[in-house]
Amino acid sequence: MSPRKPTILVTGGAGYIGSHTVLALKRAGYEVVILDNLVYGHRDLVEKVLQVELIAGDTSDRALLDQLFQTRNIDAVMHFSAYAYVGESVTDPAKYYRNNVLGTLVLLEAMLAASIKKFVFSSTCATYGVPEVVPIPENHPQNPINPYGATKLMVERILSDFDVAYGLKSVRFRYFNAAGADPNGLLGEDHNPETHLIPLVLLTALGKRESISIFGTDYPTPDGTCIRDYIHVSDLADAHILGLEYLLQGGDSEVFNLGNGLGFSVKEVIAASEEVTGLTLPVQECDRRPGDPPSLIGSSEKARKILGWQPQYPGIKDIVLHAWQWHQQRHK
Ligand SMILES: NC(=O)c1ccc[n+]([C@@H]2O[C@H](COP(=O)([O-])OP(=O)(O)OC[C@H]3O[C@@H](n4cnc5c(N)ncnc54)[C@H](O)[C@@H]3O)[C@@H](O)[C@H]2O)c1
Repeated sequence: MSPRKPTILVTGGAGYIGSHTVLALKRAGYEVVILDNLVYGHRDLVEKVLQVELIAGDTSDRALLDQLFQTRNIDAVMHFSAYAYVGESVTDPAKYYRNNVLGTLVLLEAMLAASIKKFVFSSTCATYGVPEVVPIPENHPQNPINPYGATKLMVERILSDFDVAYGLKSVRFRYFNAAGADPNGLLGEDHNPETHLIPLVLLTALGKRESISIFGTDYPTPDGTCIRDYIHVSDLADAHILGLEYLLQGGDSEVFNLGNGLGFSVKEVIAASEEVTGLTLPVQECDRRPGDPPSLIGSSEKARKILGWQPQYPGIKDIVLHAWQWHQQRHK
């Protein structure tokens, strides 16, 4: 008899990065259960594309979690669910500490009660704050400049302490800017409200928005606009499979940056989008926004070395092209 395939609970699996990872998990032969409160997730994508069990519920619901862990053979948890709007985290921090910190604590306690001790966590480059060196390595000081980044750093700290005290092993991935879409057009980015540059540019190309705002053109960068590290969402998904397998094989807790190692400026992203769409896009140059560092690029050497991760789509044109294919069909 062949051994049982590991079963993975994916919180936030109806969201952007979570759904792409569920697709990768299914392809790699894992059983998957999604827990998503559907505040931002998409039931239609889970039902039509992913076709795995969806439990519509919240990570802060301890009774639901206890029942879930008692009735399914969960081997590990991948935790994508969180609120992730930086601006809102400044105006309503309570919402962020409650969901991102407290919601995670309830989940971790329920896991421990069920003796589940493998956890893959979505952290962020926002835990670093303003970089002192670029590309940013994992041992860079973590001084988040907004409550969103602070919530993620708190969870990282909880995970370190829970490893020491309870033997809970975790892989903490600090993502840079997730972008792009499934290359086969099955899934993509559909945040509402949308705040990420590439979808905003493509929604403008589709006539859903009037123009693209460039916040600051006088930064100390080659073209004066901010540089960010865009990492293809399917490459992120692949890294999660490697991180999960690392833990399932008995790996110790680790933290990894996940980025491209390449930076693209706002103007370069717009130029790539014009090339892909064949359109000239309306642009508005605006003042700088407070708290935007000129350049945020991550070093992902550690993930490449320890996990053997190799991004398949490092170029901005592929990232934009896959996102464009997705947006065209999602907004038909
Ligand atoms: N998108 C990025 O560029 C980026 C960068 C760094 C880190 N991250 C982190 O990656 C994770 C996924 O981001 P995303 O862009 O896919 O966001 P998303 O909003 O598309 O996905 C998050 C999902 O979690 C669900 N959710 C939120 N709170 C929940 C709760 N308490 N219980 C159950 N479900 C809940 C939402 O409904 C949503 O489906 C987040 O933790 C985010 O902070 C994202």
